Amino acid sequence: MELTVTVGAAEAFPCDAVGVAVYAGQTGLRGSAARVDAALGGALAAALAEEKFAATRAATVVLHTHGRIPARRVIAVGMGTAEAVSAETVRQAAAAVVRRAAQVHAAHVALADDGTPGLSDAAVGQALVEGALLGAYRFGRYRRDDGGRVDRLTLLAADSSRRDSLQAGAARGRIFAEATVFARDLTNEPASVLPPPALAEVAAQAAARAGLRCTILDPAQMQQLGMNALLAVAAGSDHPARLIVLEYAPPDPRRTVALVGKGVCFDSGGLNLKHQDLEWMKADMAGGAAVIAVLQALPALQPAVRVVGVVPAVENLPGGRAVKPGDIVRASTGTTIEITNTDAEGRLILADALAYAGRQQPDEIIDLATLTGSAMVALGYLAAAVMGNDQALVDRLLAAAARAGERLWQLPLYEEYLEDMRSPVADLRNSGSRYGGAQKGAIFLREFVGGRPWAHLDIAPTAFLDKDEGTGPYLPKGATGYGVRTLLHYLADG
Ligand code: BES
Ligand code: MN
Ligand code: ZN
Repeated sequence: MELTVTVGAAEAFPCDAVGVAVYAGQTGLRGSAARVDAALGGALAAALAEEKFAATRAATVVLHTHGRIPARRVIAVGMGTAEAVSAETVRQAAAAVVRRAAQVHAAHVALADDGTPGLSDAAVGQALVEGALLGAYRFGRYRRDDGGRVDRLTLLAADSSRRDSLQAGAARGRIFAEATVFARDLTNEPASVLPPPALAEVAAQAAARAGLRCTILDPAQMQQLGMNALLAVAAGSDHPARLIVLEYAPPDPRRTVALVGKGVCFDSGGLNLKHQDLEWMKADMAGGAAVIAVLQALPALQPAVRVVGVVPAVENLPGGRAVKPGDIVRASTGTTIEITNTDAEGRLILADALAYAGRQQPDEIIDLATLTGSAMVALGYLAAAVMGNDQALVDRLLAAAARAGERLWQLPLYEEYLEDMRSPVADLRNSGSRYGGAQKGAIFLREFVGGRPWAHLDIAPTAFLDKDEGTGPYLPKGATGYGVRTLLHYLADG
């Protein structure tokens, strides 16, 4: 999408649709909405009254202007009350306008910015662009008729004093949104198109474009490192596993963060074959996609933090050489694991990947994984779960998620959860009882981080939506790219 920031008035700017904000609990229209209404001889206020428009968040009304102003349509968008407005309100409003514009085949959309109470102009610029680009997203490459598309976005600064900070925020918003879109595309792509070697190839290309270091390990190299837990999961598939390692290394880094993302390109469950959710399981690499997307965005944001991204990429299939329930594998740390359920494969590949990440001497390790159905049972589609061994790290991630508008909720990691993960024949087993499943998965992972500060995001609830029932108009059906913006805020803010 072509993006421009310019100084201009909503009532004087030529485009297919201009979005103007309307606040709840105010008598009469304000700012751009009021000026557009005046230019239309009161037609906007009349339309809003007729439709009993309450200006609730992200609600819209479309009005044709019939040549009375240069914009062909006005899209009024509700902001809720001024006191409750946040960056998330702005994101959702921009997304709602762009979605509505696409439905009515308006290709060039302008968003009027009058300043938003309590937010800096840069924050508004970022939120507008994130909302617009993420709201416009569709996974359309396999469709002949993909409906209307917005291909041009103009942010209209009401006065010139605001233009530069709006522009700076918009540029940052574009980086955040495009990284999220990249993760969505990788996740939505069918499993046959992106098996582990192809995912690794795409990651290597992205790394080359962005100027990152990239190392891809093949099964022989992983065998050398003793990564038998990871290789056990890959054994049932004809597609060989890959360990994707990306590194962003700025000149004088303040610290090193390792990001680890579950990259199960397809999770059939293995011999413990799944009987539901299978069409979803091409998205079981959403954590890995988020890590790749974050890494390739870092050079544009230039944080003074060294970041190593590690993505174990495998396919979990019940082939002739598949790992069998009851098998015992020795992970690269020396820990032995009894595989009691081949569908608990994420923790097996992450065990070796976390240990590998630990060898890069990180100050902290953060993993993202579509790890458990239990997290979805607990939270629905509305929030991901976070657990960790370092409360300060968890708190910083919760704060970053709040800035990103990505809901994140902490679950407890009681020591006793580990008891159910012990095996009578090995050091650990990979599945326990159903109860507390998200926490048991997390505490299993903790055994492989070597005591380093670590946090685990179980993104199974939020990574992929069955229908439009996430938290707002910029979350589409299918992959959401959850976690990308949280991590970019975490790494690049201040
Ligand atoms: N990828 C799944 C988790 C999942 C399930 C994500 C449904 C999204 C929707 C994971 O590999 C898995 O199968 N987990 C099992 C673990 C159990 C066997 C201990 C689960 O949650 O049922
Ligand atoms: Mn599974
Ligand atoms: Zn899985």
